Amino acid sequence: MGSLLQVRGLRTEFGSDAGSAVAVDEVSFDLDRGETICLVGESGSGKSVTALSIMGLLPRNGRVTDGEIRFDDVSLLDLSEPEMRENRGNSLAMIFQEPMTSLNPVLTIGDQLTEGMLLHLGLSRQDAAKRAVELLELVGVPRAEQIVRDYPHRLSGGMRQRVMIAMALSCSPALLVADEPTTALDVTIQAQILALMKRLAAASQTATILITHDLGVVAEMADKVAVMYAGQVVEEADVFELFDHPRHPYTVGLMKSIPHLGADDDARLESIPGSVPALANMPSGCRFQDRCPSVMDRCRAERPDLLETSTTGKHLVRCFLYSGEQAAVRDETTTAVAS
Ligand SMILES: Nc1ncnc2c1ncn2[C@@H]1O[C@H](COP(=O)(O)OP(=O)(O)OP(=O)(O)O)[C@@H](O)[C@H]1O
Ligand SMILES: [Mg+2]
Repeated sequence: MGSLLQVRGLRTEFGSDAGSAVAVDEVSFDLDRGETICLVGESGSGKSVTALSIMGLLPRNGRVTDGEIRFDDVSLLDLSEPEMRENRGNSLAMIFQEPMTSLNPVLTIGDQLTEGMLLHLGLSRQDAAKRAVELLELVGVPRAEQIVRDYPHRLSGGMRQRVMIAMALSCSPALLVADEPTTALDVTIQAQILALMKRLAAASQTATILITHDLGVVAEMADKVAVMYAGQVVEEADVFELFDHPRHPYTVGLMKSIPHLGADDDARLESIPGSVPALANMPSGCRFQDRCPSVMDRCRAERPDLLETSTTGKHLVRCFLYSGEQAAVRDETTTAVAS
């Protein structure tokens, strides 16, 4: 049996009157129980589309057109919409960036929290109500007994996000996808919520996909990291390996753009000159070529693959600068297989 989640060669396209645009291309990664992978990369790099593809929550004009998503040995792309919905209630959960838009303004917090549990866990109304209060206490909501009777607009942003996390955790999902779950919140609350997510994930062996712009958050939360650029993963490694030995010139640029990791100032990834190419205008060859300080002729002519560069651990890089190492890893594996 492989990892809990296996994403292989994922390709997601959006249709429009002008034709179709590929937003995510050749995205692959694995995730085990209890493990956290962070997806990082500039705005528009395909992080949310990757998450929505996995959750089966793409907007109407979006479609997965290639690749495979296996979760708990089931091919998610082959499931019907009702089967996916059942999965989302049970074993897959997602926390969105903006808590207000994801809570229903006309239902009480308690009703929203119990809805999933009534539907998917078959709890009685009374047990679900009791569990709702417990969940709110677990995520650090004070006066939980009263809050269950309140409507979302009565709560602060931090409290609403806690409610969202409680909802996401209410059916003990095996996989939690959190898309910038704390961006809208102030720094102190952000730290509390992340610490909470980390504790809960560790306690219940939840696998987590955490999307963030913030490399400080990555350092704090990730076991491993996939760096995305223009719809593709350009580098993937264990978090320590990635911070100690970033390889792809894009990752190196991201790292340089942080003044002090862990400092209070906003460690956002925005200062690499130039911008991500438009979907309709992807260059042939490497997608980072026009911003890359190390660009070579080959980068304009050929598309690099995401390949292993380390013979000892896992460090995948989509860059011709490392084709020597990639060849060495290939030789070693061929020799190992042959002998
Ligand atoms: N509904 C849609 N229709 C057409 N294109 C879309 C749609 N949603 C996303 N895209 C495009 O897909 C690409 C990837 O977008 P995505 O939202 O995944 O980026 P992101 O990495 O999550 O960025 P951000 O950090 O800003 O959230 C972008 O070029 C975006 O314009
Ligand atoms: Mg996004």
